[in-house]
Amino acid sequence: MCGIVGYIGHRQADELIIKGLERLEYRGYDSAGIAIINNGLAIFKKAGKVKALRKMIKTSDTSGTLGIGHTRWATHGEPNDKNAHPHMGNNGRLALVHNGIIENYAVLKSALMAEGHTFSSDTDTEVLVHLIEEIQKEGNLALEEAVRLALNRVEGAYAIAVVDRNNPGILVGARKQSPLLVGIGDNEFFIGSDASPFLDSTKRVVYLEDGQVACISLEKGLQLRNTANEEQPPFIQTLDLQIEALEKEGYEHFMLKEIYEQPKTILDAMRGRISSKESRVTLRGLEEYANRFVRANRIIIVACGTSYHSGLIGEYLIEDLARIPVEVEYASEFRYRNPILSERDIVIAISQSGETADTMAALELAKQKGAMIYGIVNSVGSSIARLTDAGSYIHAGPEIGVASTKAFTGQVTVLTLLALSLARKLSTISNTYFQTLVRELELIPSKVEEILKENDHIKYIAKEVKDHHNALYLGRGYNFPVALEGALKLKEISYVHAEGYPAAEMKHGPIALIDENMPVYVTATNKSAYDKIVSNVQEVVARKGRVIAIVNKGEKLIAKIADHVIEIPSTEEPLTPLLSVIPLQLLSYHIAVELGRNVDQPRNLAKSVTVE
Ligand code: F6R
Repeated sequence: MCGIVGYIGHRQADELIIKGLERLEYRGYDSAGIAIINNGLAIFKKAGKVKALRKMIKTSDTSGTLGIGHTRWATHGEPNDKNAHPHMGNNGRLALVHNGIIENYAVLKSALMAEGHTFSSDTDTEVLVHLIEEIQKEGNLALEEAVRLALNRVEGAYAIAVVDRNNPGILVGARKQSPLLVGIGDNEFFIGSDASPFLDSTKRVVYLEDGQVACISLEKGLQLRNTANEEQPPFIQTLDLQIEALEKEGYEHFMLKEIYEQPKTILDAMRGRISSKESRVTLRGLEEYANRFVRANRIIIVACGTSYHSGLIGEYLIEDLARIPVEVEYASEFRYRNPILSERDIVIAISQSGETADTMAALELAKQKGAMIYGIVNSVGSSIARLTDAGSYIHAGPEIGVASTKAFTGQVTVLTLLALSLARKLSTISNTYFQTLVRELELIPSKVEEILKENDHIKYIAKEVKDHHNALYLGRGYNFPVALEGALKLKEISYVHAEGYPAAEMKHGPIALIDENMPVYVTATNKSAYDKIVSNVQEVVARKGRVIAIVNKGEKLIAKIADHVIEIPSTEEPLTPLLSVIPLQLLSYHIAVELGRNVDQPRNLAKSVTVE
């Protein structure tokens, strides 16, 4: 949540920062601002999107080669001009941008007020810049030293960037539990919440570790110290990321582009890890810890949102194929309920961003309690990827639409590989069935391709159902988590109330909601529960509910009674989620577009939830 950019170099900072903020807008988009050091300190900030800030500064003097910027997702204080970052202290020297929450801000604020500080916003962040100013004033300290001392008094999570009018050659950044990296260019440096703001200038980066303070100047380069004031050598990595991945490439929205990328991203998640010819599934991260996995008492999957839904599919897969007990928990609940964990447990975190605060905290707890921790992550080099003992990247590339699509199918693909690999090691499925599943998995990308050809038909259905204010999603077995995911997709981008249920549970309550105004999305592609789900559809039709069914090609019974049918290719049951979720993603997308919603940046949301 919140995006941070910083620049120090020989080029004009304003355009580089604004462009960087536009790339980081997926992290928050309720207000934005920049601070530029020229002969003094110039600050511009505005409620709304970065576009509004861009317009505001068009006629202002923003020249200067050092600056910082911020795009906000509000925590403390409503999204308006005064709460937008950067924030300043009282003497007008410092400007600071922040991602995270200063938890002890109230205590610090009272102490600072007693010293005579006055505040002009409702944010926790403003307290930090006043604290740095106070410390700097007391000891006449260098900026980086004042920042370091201030951070020793702060509780909570932060990634910050700070500039000082009286030190016009220095950019300071620091992080704890919120991401921050430094881009190293040719006699120029960048700071970013991720690498997207500066990817067209450099791919050489240093990921800051928790508690590190970076002091950057053109004379001395990047210098790192921890909050205990020990010097630390920077570890420079070169990213394998292409700038095209950050563009819409002709699609109207990032979400649509990402839905259409799925044949490729599923293939990328499998690349080098699977071969039906060699009858092999190999996940390198798993191989290193194979003994721990095969001897595990149980696996606990922790995640949030869409990643939680893929975790539920992981539970079905691992229990069904590898016969290891699995529990799936919302990371936020797991960490606060004093869970019982032992060294024989494996905790798997699933996260697209690799930065979700609750998932991080759940992993830290699991680590403390001696469990092995494994990550299934998209964002390379992210905090979760670095915290885990081992793991597997999903290799989906940057996901920019706030609603997760390709990351979901990437996660499910990796979980399928994990279950198959464990099943092989534990001999819990026959060689023939293993071969069948591997062969079928290799066919999934082309089957997704086929489903995407149904786009016009799905768009037509979306137009038909768009005006309903509620929706029910039903599925059984492997398709139950798909129902949850379908409902979440609709809610978050179209603001239509939707709920996902196991189809058989409908009789235990939700059936009371069904009438001619209730669209019911039924996923009926699993053969083992087919007859039962036909009965569930009959029950909905008998109550005049409008049925939109996803069925296998050639299906006859449901096709006869449903209002709309979307046919998809059939596959082996454990692989059905990878196909059945695609029409639901497209339906949500088209309904949201029909309703005129901001698909890529829905209200109140942000892509990377780095606060608890
Ligand atoms: C929904 C969505 C969110 C995320 C959740 C976890 O489309 O994107 O529900 O899935 O915030 O995020 P990650 O996977 O980054 O940990």
